[in-house]
Amino acid sequence: MPNDESDRRWLKLTTLWNFSSCEPAFGFPFPGRIPGQIVRNVLYYFTGPNALVVDPFGGSGTTLDVCRHMERRCLIYDLQPSRDDITKYDISHGFPKEAQGCDLIFLDPPYWRQKRGKYPKEEGSFSVVSLDEFNRKMEKLISDCYDTVKEGGYTALFSQNPTELRGKMAVSCRHYVDHVIDGYEFFIRAGFSPVYRINCPLTWEQFAGFDVKDAKANKRLLGLVRDLLIMKKGP
Ligand SMILES: C[S@@+](CC[C@H](N)C(=O)[O-])C[C@H]1O[C@@H](n2cnc3c(N)ncnc32)[C@H](O)[C@@H]1O
Repeated sequence: MPNDESDRRWLKLTTLWNFSSCEPAFGFPFPGRIPGQIVRNVLYYFTGPNALVVDPFGGSGTTLDVCRHMERRCLIYDLQPSRDDITKYDISHGFPKEAQGCDLIFLDPPYWRQKRGKYPKEEGSFSVVSLDEFNRKMEKLISDCYDTVKEGGYTALFSQNPTELRGKMAVSCRHYVDHVIDGYEFFIRAGFSPVYRINCPLTWEQFAGFDVKDAKANKRLLGLVRDLLIMKKGP
């Protein structure tokens, strides 16, 4: 089990949330799994005990495991569930009724096509569509979040910038694309108020020797920037 709440080594005091590995008790090895410590900080700062937390992009179940550990209620969905305790659901259709009035929505969508070979290819998937369609889906999703979260509640968006990614994705993005900036605009249009932009950098370990060589040869910067937007419904 993870450290108990009296051991607060996971707790961050600034807007830099850097973790070099994933706490093993939260989620399991999965493409795009995020450190549970990030979810833990989100729940610590923006929810209280027994709060209802909703995660429509469940992945390995990181959010569910952290909610159980911190005694929050959790509704968790995925287009292709990896575990029995994640409900199969396509969030393109809007949030299920049971999510209405929740305290916090945690969004960790595919970063467009970054892992398209590893996520579901079925209709509805955020990772197999064009960039325009991805943005349409994101804008609708964020507007649905506004209609679903309670007044005074929060929505968190975890994302990164594909132009900074390695290999084919970097090459295929001929113009500048930034999911965090796009997401911010969708939040403002939906009526949310900004609370924080938190930097959750990736670590060097993700780059292979090939990436470093390729980046040097092409004078390209390897991307480690990854951000978490915290937005509030209400002033
Ligand atoms: C970045 S992963 C989430 C990782 C998760 N936070 C974790 O720590 O394990 C994104 C997930 O979104 C799911 N997904 C893609 N399109 C979806 C959709 N339309 N509705 C629900 N889930 C979707 C994928 O199956 C994938 O599991």
